[in-house]
Amino acid sequence: MVTESLKQTVHVLVVDDEENILRSIRRLLVSEEIDVITASSGQKALELLKGDPSAVGVIVSDQRMPGMSGVDFLEKAKEIAPDTVRIVLTGYADINAAVDAINRGGAYRYITKPWQDDELLQVIRDAMKQFSLVSENRRLQEIIKRQNEELKEWNAQLQFFVQEQTVEIQKKNEALERLNRRLRSNFRNTIFAFSGLLELRDRGAESHSRNVAEISVKVGKALGLERPEIEDIMVGALLHDIGKIGIPDVLLKKDPREMDEEEKALYRQHPVRGQTAIDSIEDLRRAGVLIRHHHEAMDGSGFPDGLKGNDIPLGARILSVADFIDRQLAKYEADNAIELVLRDVRERLGSLFDPDLYPHLEGPVTRLYDRVLPKKDLVEMELSPHELKAGMVVARDVRSGTGLMLLRKGTTLDEKNIRALRRYAEIDPSKTGVFVWVRR
Ligand SMILES: [Fe+2]
Ligand SMILES: [Fe+2]
Repeated sequence: MVTESLKQTVHVLVVDDEENILRSIRRLLVSEEIDVITASSGQKALELLKGDPSAVGVIVSDQRMPGMSGVDFLEKAKEIAPDTVRIVLTGYADINAAVDAINRGGAYRYITKPWQDDELLQVIRDAMKQFSLVSENRRLQEIIKRQNEELKEWNAQLQFFVQEQTVEIQKKNEALERLNRRLRSNFRNTIFAFSGLLELRDRGAESHSRNVAEISVKVGKALGLERPEIEDIMVGALLHDIGKIGIPDVLLKKDPREMDEEEKALYRQHPVRGQTAIDSIEDLRRAGVLIRHHHEAMDGSGFPDGLKGNDIPLGARILSVADFIDRQLAKYEADNAIELVLRDVRERLGSLFDPDLYPHLEGPVTRLYDRVLPKKDLVEMELSPHELKAGMVVARDVRSGTGLMLLRKGTTLDEKNIRALRRYAEIDPSKTGVFVWVRR
């Protein structure tokens, strides 16, 4: 029989087939302000439990009841509401049933009839405490479980976002890299165009800055310099005489040794003028320093600052000797010009040039001029662009009619540059043919 409606508070469920026992326990508990539900059989009690398993915290059940025994009832109640704390009431004679209740029905305690009110109350209070501990524990475990699941979900989401972001960043990086490569190549091409303009101004100096650049870069690499330093050296070499733009043509054609004092002073300004000309371009500033010092000498007799030894930037020491080699070579007509120039360099080591650089010079210098100087077993021929064949080597710089540098002396022809030469022959024809070396 149901005598209390189920509330969300924790109730004690008392099950007994004897109405007077239910009444007395109920009275006892109500007087202690404990919420009670009663049921007159195991069957009815199970229905109550199924209705709201969480409402019941403690079950007190008689053992001897018609229909369903207390042990059987507690066993079933345990399945429906496992957290309930279960107490069985037995007669003195039923100790075995009590043990059974503990073993099978998961009973917490047994109490013998007739009971002492104080003892029963104490057991029920302990059971309620036990129940609240267990249910608090379960509540906390559920919170932890839920939080773990949320964390897992967040983690999965986070991983997804991170992956997405990583892909995005990779894409952006690739785009930036492409852009950077384009900028660098534009920058290089601009420097080459500048240097081409310089050579156009000073016809005697054709290929001069490119030769200086080739030697200097190779020496820099042989010395194990880092890439940014090598680039500064290359730019410095290509533009080292940019300051000559402000110097009159007559003076440019003179050998510095034949200049009077006034001319010499003007000529000696070109490294500083060169540095000043490019100083406003931040990326060229380091190359500008090399340009300023490309006429310094190891013994301090150079210009413009008279720096000595290692006070001269390494890049400038390299430019200085490469510049000398390329200018000096033009003075020799002999077949062993390279040997003679290297001898001239050796004679000036320590006074003009850095002796440490010499071991790295011979290789690049020999390879460069072997390639670009006329060879004995080759004859120079002037051919029209249509007579050119892949594999031929260009003997003189090829320029378009308006003076644009198309191919450098020493370049080996292939289908691609032959096509380009034929195209230029139509739109900007040169006055001469293309000079190539052909095997005798
Ligand atoms: Fe110079
Ligand atoms: Fe020069």
